Order: sequence, then structure tokens, then C-alpha cells
Amino acid sequence: MTADAPISALWPDPSPAPLDDDALTALYRRADTPQLRMNFVTSVDGAVSLDGYSAGLSGEPDKRVFRLLRMVCDALLVAAGTLRHEGYRALRLDEQRRAWRRRHGLAEYPTLVVVSNSLDLDPAQAAFADAPVRPIVLTRDGAPAAPALAAVADLVHCGADEVDLAVGLAELRRRGLDQVLCEGGPHLFGALTAADLVDEVCLSVAPLLAGAGAGRITAGAPSPARQLPLRHVLLAGDGTLLLRHARH
Ligand SMILES: NC(=O)c1ccc[n+]([C@@H]2O[C@H](COP(=O)([O-])OP(=O)(O)OC[C@H]3O[C@@H](n4cnc5c(N)ncnc54)[C@H](OP(=O)(O)O)[C@@H]3O)[C@@H](O)[C@H]2O)c1
Repeated sequence: MTADAPISALWPDPSPAPLDDDALTALYRRADTPQLRMNFVTSVDGAVSLDGYSAGLSGEPDKRVFRLLRMVCDALLVAAGTLRHEGYRALRLDEQRRAWRRRHGLAEYPTLVVVSNSLDLDPAQAAFADAPVRPIVLTRDGAPAAPALAAVADLVHCGADEVDLAVGLAELRRRGLDQVLCEGGPHLFGALTAADLVDEVCLSVAPLLAGAGAGRITAGAPSPARQLPLRHVLLAGDGTLLLRHARH
């Protein structure tokens, strides 16, 4: 599939040569220090979804980077809303990506981490029931008891009335989960931005106008704007732009 839409570097070191998987992995390498990396896809006019889902925005180049980012992370953080809506399945990687992780001294699979105030989560959803690694759910102290969920996931209570995301991330780091990839959704992104916890944003811009209706990739209460410098621009053969913005 990559031959149909090869990815090449536009900035800061332009080269028309297609990036192979090793070169792409180097561009999205793990940081030396703990970090929180967001990954989103959007349309040219800033939509978070097409017909309610992100799939309509995501072409092969976005999927290629999506898979790669999962390969290099320790934990995959996702909001309960996106997990439920997008019907997340078990977080499994193919043999090639597992071999890469073994070679780099990582656990064979990343750990799924779900953020939920309500604990209105289905323990039978494959993301939990079929997980190769026991998932973690970050929730608030006053969340309702959820014994069936506790049977398939570690419930971590952090924050009185709502999840304290800084405390939750600190707990992940205490467990050795330093490189955290967050796949959204928009309310979680807004809360992480407000708490100034976002170190990096990987953004795929699909070459289409979604039109009015869909929300943005961020939502919730407003928070102060923050600088996030551009680190690279890649261009795929289908016109998708792959941007990486990061603090460092
Ligand atoms: N374009 C993209 O790359 C992309 C990526 C992801 C999602 N999406 C789209 O985004 C839409 C889903 O968005 P959404 O509005 O449901 O937002 P969301 O952020 O995915 O989910 C909101 C829910 O997640 C939990 N949550 C989020 N932030 C929390 C926090 N700070 N503390 C505690 N719980 C928190 C809460 O769950 P509880 O109700 O369980 O408490 C909340 O109701 C879908 O259309 C999906 O396709 C697009």
C-alpha cells in the first residue's frame, strides 16, 4: 500500500525519496524523557470526523503513521467516549511490530489506558475482554463501583470529582509507562491541553473539505493558547500532510 502513497520529507530536510519504515520510525522515535504525544487526523477545514467517525479522514499514509506510533509507545491513552464510539478492539500488533519492540527491549504490547469519569464501560468490549495486556482505567475517586470492569482492568482512582490527568500520568510513569500516545478524543485533548500536559502533536491533514457539522479535534472548556513549534512536515503521495509539532 505504501507504494500507492509514498511518504517523503518536505521540511526541514526536503527529499523526494520515499521514506522507508526505518526512516519513518526514526522521525517518530521515542523521546529520551517521559512524554505525552497526541495523534489526530483532520480535514483541511479542521473537522474531527466525517459522518461521525475518524475513519473517513484516514487514508493509508495516516494509517501507516498511526500503526507506527502505536509500535513505539509504552501506553495508549484514549478517552472513554472515543473507545465506546469507535468500538476499540484489543490493542494487538502484528509480528513485525512486536519483533521491533522486542529488539528495543519493550514489552511485546503497549498497555491500553482509558480515561473515564463515569466508568460506563463495557467489560465485554474486545478492548478489555481480549486485551493481551491488562488495561488500566483512570477514573475519579467517586466513580461508581464497577466489579465486572475491575475483573478485566486495573482501576486507578485519581482525583476527587473528576480525573486528575497529571496524577494519572504520574501513576503511568511510576509503572514504567513513560512514552504515552494519546489517540483522543477531543474532550480528552482539551483537558490535557488545559492541564499543560501535551508535549507533542502528530497531525495528519487529509486533502478534503469535510464541510460544516463536525467538531474540532479539541473540545471542552477554553484554556490559554500555547506555543507548539513545528518539527517536521511530510507529504504523502495522496496529498496527506503529516505534521509533527513538539515542545522539544
Ligand atoms: N480525528 C481524530 O483523529 C479523532 C480521534 C479520536 C476521536 N475522534 C472522534 O471524536 C468523537 C468522540 O469525541 P467525544 O466528544 O466523545 O470526546 P472524547 O474525549 O473521546 O470522550 C469524552 C468522554 O471520555 C471521557 N473523558 C474525556 N476526557 C476526560 C477527562 N479529562 N476526565 C475524565 N473522563 C474524560 C468521559 O467519559 P465518561 O463519560 O465515561 O466519563 C467523556 O464523556 C468521535 O466522533 C470520534 O470519531 C476523532
